[in-house]
Amino acid sequence: MRLTLSLATVMMSLTAITSDAIEIVSGPYLQNVTDCEATVVWRTDKDALAWVETAPDDSLNFYAEERPRHYETDMGRAVVGKLHKVRLKGLESGKTYRYRVYSHEIVDQQPNHIVYGGMAATDVYRREPLRFSTRGVNSGKVSFCVVNDIHGDTARLGDMLGKVREDGRDFVLFNGDMVSYMDSEQQLFDGFIDRSVELFANEIPFQMVRGNHESRGRFAQRYMDYFPTATDKPYYTFSAGPVFFVVLDGGEDKPDSDIEYGGTSFCDAYRAEQAEWLAGVVESAEFRNAPFRVVVVHVPPVQDTWHGPLHAKQLFLPVLNKADVDLMLCGHLHCYRYNEAGVDGAEFPVLINSNMEMLDVEADNSTMNVVRKDRYGKELGRFKFCSE
Ligand SMILES: [Fe+2]
Repeated sequence: MRLTLSLATVMMSLTAITSDAIEIVSGPYLQNVTDCEATVVWRTDKDALAWVETAPDDSLNFYAEERPRHYETDMGRAVVGKLHKVRLKGLESGKTYRYRVYSHEIVDQQPNHIVYGGMAATDVYRREPLRFSTRGVNSGKVSFCVVNDIHGDTARLGDMLGKVREDGRDFVLFNGDMVSYMDSEQQLFDGFIDRSVELFANEIPFQMVRGNHESRGRFAQRYMDYFPTATDKPYYTFSAGPVFFVVLDGGEDKPDSDIEYGGTSFCDAYRAEQAEWLAGVVESAEFRNAPFRVVVVHVPPVQDTWHGPLHAKQLFLPVLNKADVDLMLCGHLHCYRYNEAGVDGAEFPVLINSNMEMLDVEADNSTMNVVRKDRYGKELGRFKFCSE
């Protein structure tokens, strides 16, 4: 204890006299949490060597012993920079871990000598360490929230997701257009990531679904750096309790040749690439054996007359209609709509969530309940789906 106090005092003093001490400016937030791994993302204001320390969620103090360090490495070297993405592997299924992120400033990297500056870490002394849980294999239940089309409105995000931590949700699904365009890293963090960290995202992961607006702007090509997935693409699958999720990227809504894209859009080929991948996904044992199969795509591939959704309808629906999909979740329209199975060529229900509403979902092996709520949590309706 005495040693810790001394170290804390020294670090506080150093911070006081060194105004340009390295700082964690965003995060950490959790991505790609599965039954055996998790990725922790954060950023610092200076280049740093970064690592994550993990500890079991037991009765021992975090300081009881040296905790294992996990680094981001590439080609045999630590990745040094301001954005840190540490993939924790070999975790146990359905287990809670405590963690701390560390960043050691690197002032210079000479060929034979690394010059270090100060350090910054999340607090495990004055505060409880951050915690996260891996997904349980065959855990039999899951709960999550869905929001979409936030377009950088952090006040609305706060109203909708203020109880995620308290309610112990397993994750939050961001179904596209969380920002209106991707212009810079700062704009992305200001738009929704920093607020999400305050609300829940340092302990509860969010699953990103790319909207058409996230494909726009000078920073759009950096999307995967911030939202890693199992496929290294914006389209991917994941399992959570009894639900198997298929996340698709509907791409842009207008034809590739539209003046807005200036010759840079190739979404027809991108959707075709996904359709080929999707055909394999629906044949997989994981998909076929799941009690519930939920497809998530920002742009609804039904009841639209624009090229993007028409093309998605033409490519995706023939595959999905033969796959016993229980529910498709969409956004994009900024209004609520619910289609029973059989409407406009989709042989499964399609729930389009409004930008001003959220969905609260709870599922076990036999039932999936979806509650539709307004911005402030007032219930507007509910749906019940049963597994066969
Ligand atoms: Fe959209």
